[in-house]
Amino acid sequence: MKVYSGLAGIPVVKSSISYIDGEKGILEYRGIPIQELVENSEFLEVAYLLVFGKLPTVNEYKKFVSDVKKHLQIDSSIINLLEKLPLNTHPMKVLQSAVPVFSAFEDVEDVLDEKHHYNALVRMLGHVPTVLASWKRISNKEDVIPPDGSLSYGENFLYMMRGEKPSKEEGDIFDKCLILHAEHTINASTFTAIVVVSTLADFYSAVSSAVGSLSGRLHGGANERVFYMLSEIKNTEDIPSIIEEKLKKKERIMGFGHRIYKTYDPRAKILKDMLKKLSTKKENSLYRIAEIFEREALKRLGSKGIHPNIDFYSGILYNMLGIPVQFYTPVFAMARIAGWTAHCKEYLKENKLFRPTQIYDGGHNIHYIPAEKRK
Ligand code: CMC
Repeated sequence: MKVYSGLAGIPVVKSSISYIDGEKGILEYRGIPIQELVENSEFLEVAYLLVFGKLPTVNEYKKFVSDVKKHLQIDSSIINLLEKLPLNTHPMKVLQSAVPVFSAFEDVEDVLDEKHHYNALVRMLGHVPTVLASWKRISNKEDVIPPDGSLSYGENFLYMMRGEKPSKEEGDIFDKCLILHAEHTINASTFTAIVVVSTLADFYSAVSSAVGSLSGRLHGGANERVFYMLSEIKNTEDIPSIIEEKLKKKERIMGFGHRIYKTYDPRAKILKDMLKKLSTKKENSLYRIAEIFEREALKRLGSKGIHPNIDFYSGILYNMLGIPVQFYTPVFAMARIAGWTAHCKEYLKENKLFRPTQIYDGGHNIHYIPAEKRK
């Protein structure tokens, strides 16, 4: 028997939600190229597509948007809960703690009931931006700002967090970032979500566990670390030696490399193009540093199939939108609710409890030693 370390290359599900060609740099949601969705769609429409398997009709979409927007309002008990947390709690931990509490407001309790899938989806899509924006304000001792019904989904998040209404362009850029982060096949957090739902735990438990999984620095947590890494660079001439030093110490370059993509991550390419366009209007020194960093890192890692991934450029865009650095991974989670929910719903159609096996390599017949005789 062989151990499949990290389950690399082992299919665990059949799925029709998204597709990646890691050699050609292709990503599709329900068969539609990601570029086409970023150009033509909006995040909530993409969330509907991912979860329900088709683009919504005009009326279906109207109802869906209205249901999500209704849930931007959160119960005061959730705000009270946030107010009791230590002010330095990382927003990913706040999110992981708050999501299961949403189930208290749910009337459909059976995870096999499709109504639960819809209710949990619209509730999480609505509540999560408000929880995150409220936490930003509470942790900064600022007043919580309620959602504004006249704003779009993405604009509302920026408004509730910053306290100032975003421009149309800012709202559009943020919405496109959400589309890019909405889904990505069976990665660690999505796998976490389906493992949890396979026990017939509800979608709130699955998503809160997935949030924990996403927080790690090998997964979604990389975007925050890329920002710190780039911000520490004072002189662009130092970049080659900074990279050499990291590689000599066998440190990972954050925002580079991917288990599936062995070429440029198509999401990183779109983010970079958006940044390039934005930086012609609004000078950003980090973008200049990132471009040089990318060029130098690619000289050393490109031949090994290690290229920039989605986390390399996202943080700089978020910074330009006025989102604080600790909220970069939570924004990733906010978008990924769509993908996690889609996979949970799909997995439950032919649910099989996840219960892998192991190869035991410990001892046998080892006898208990009383405490005073232990060395
Ligand atoms: N910097 C330097 N070396 C790297 C990197 C990197 N970012 N990524 C992979 N390598 C090297 C690694 O050291 C190893 O070299 P060797 O064979 O000489 O020991 C080789 O490439 C294979 O590495 P691996 O860890 O076996 O490959 P993996 O498929 O498990 O790695 C990864 C995927 C994402 C964990 C890794 O590329 C990494 O740690 N990247 C940095 C963290 C990061 O940016 N994560 C975000 C991923 S994309 C967003 C998301 O899906 O969450």
